[in-house]
Amino acid sequence: MNFPDFERRLNRPTQLKLPELERNGRLKHVLFARQLGRELLEELNVTATMIRHLAATKDGAVFLKGLLPEKRAMLYFTQTSTRTFLSFTAACQLLGMSTAEIRDPSVSSEYKGESPLDSMRMFSSYFDIVVMRSGEPNFAEVCAYLMNDLDAFHQRSVPIINAGAGTDEHPTQSLLDIHTIQRCFEFESERDSGDWNRFDELRKQYRDLTKGLSNKVYGFCGDLARGRTVRSLAILLSQYEALEMHFVAPADERLRLHSDLKRRLLDAGVSVHEHERLDDIVEDIDLLYMTRVQSEHDKAGSETDHLQQSYAITTELANRMKSYAPILHPFPRNSEIPPEIDRNERAMYFHQARNGLWARAALLTHLFDVDRHVTTQYRRQFSEFHNYNRASPT
Ligand code: NCD
Repeated sequence: MNFPDFERRLNRPTQLKLPELERNGRLKHVLFARQLGRELLEELNVTATMIRHLAATKDGAVFLKGLLPEKRAMLYFTQTSTRTFLSFTAACQLLGMSTAEIRDPSVSSEYKGESPLDSMRMFSSYFDIVVMRSGEPNFAEVCAYLMNDLDAFHQRSVPIINAGAGTDEHPTQSLLDIHTIQRCFEFESERDSGDWNRFDELRKQYRDLTKGLSNKVYGFCGDLARGRTVRSLAILLSQYEALEMHFVAPADERLRLHSDLKRRLLDAGVSVHEHERLDDIVEDIDLLYMTRVQSEHDKAGSETDHLQQSYAITTELANRMKSYAPILHPFPRNSEIPPEIDRNERAMYFHQARNGLWARAALLTHLFDVDRHVTTQYRRQFSEFHNYNRASPT
């Protein structure tokens, strides 16, 4: 697709685009990972955690359902998706929003020659937010500019969320990835008490271990060139201090880390290393982020499939990792993580997928400016709960 009217805006450096994607210090549209600054990530992390706790109680679930009943979401997913689509649907349901979906443009009027931008304007007439995944790399961005132009003429305009565009960006996946990493690197355990806690226990073995995302060694493995999740996550992580990133990909240019991403990470002060074998780094990393080979981008559709086996993780490799080091994967997986790894204590990818629900719900409360109500309800419900249960001082 060509968008001649938007070309000048599309071709600007991303940094210059950011101000018009915000309003009153809040995100207005979500297109790029780098819109999620560290402070906002911390905020969304806290909101996601509160939503998770509230959703587990009847009062909390009823409260959440009453937050946004007047809002309707259009989920425009013309490129394949399972988790992103379903977790956005579930997040909307959690907050009382209603949803409609288009997953196949051949059943919409685009088939009759309607321009995608006219379709988008129709969506914004009926809905209050458009969450979209399209195979067209710039389409979500163009839609956001269209909405801004409508806004400038006092026409109806709604937020656009990029739920994965081309090989380039997947900001909401990186949001849930960060939320997952934040949870993992709190090193909490249900068994934590005044006498014993997991973090102190781990520190007996790993003396330099610290809580949080800084001071960590991150491993990324698989299709580093075409995996948009790696790209978005590495960009977000680079905001933290004292990081090493190790990128493992088979010796094939189609999969290896792109030089532009490498340059950006180096400029952000990250120590970047490249490898061909997972075996070289498993003992050193604090986290492993696996990805599949994205062979749908191959000309013939499957030329790079065979490379998957060359970097698959085995039980032997997983067990050589630090005991607390999580294994993440955005999914879908192929053979790079065999199912026997699912039983390993390091396997966190199903938790990661579930975190998508909380993180996306948190993002929606931010966009619709109701996150402060979540905080109020959380304090109301849980401080009473804690006070009630706290043993009286003797
Ligand atoms: C990823 C995607 O679509 O970019 N999946 C996801 O959104 N969870 C990764 C992939 O397709 O491999």
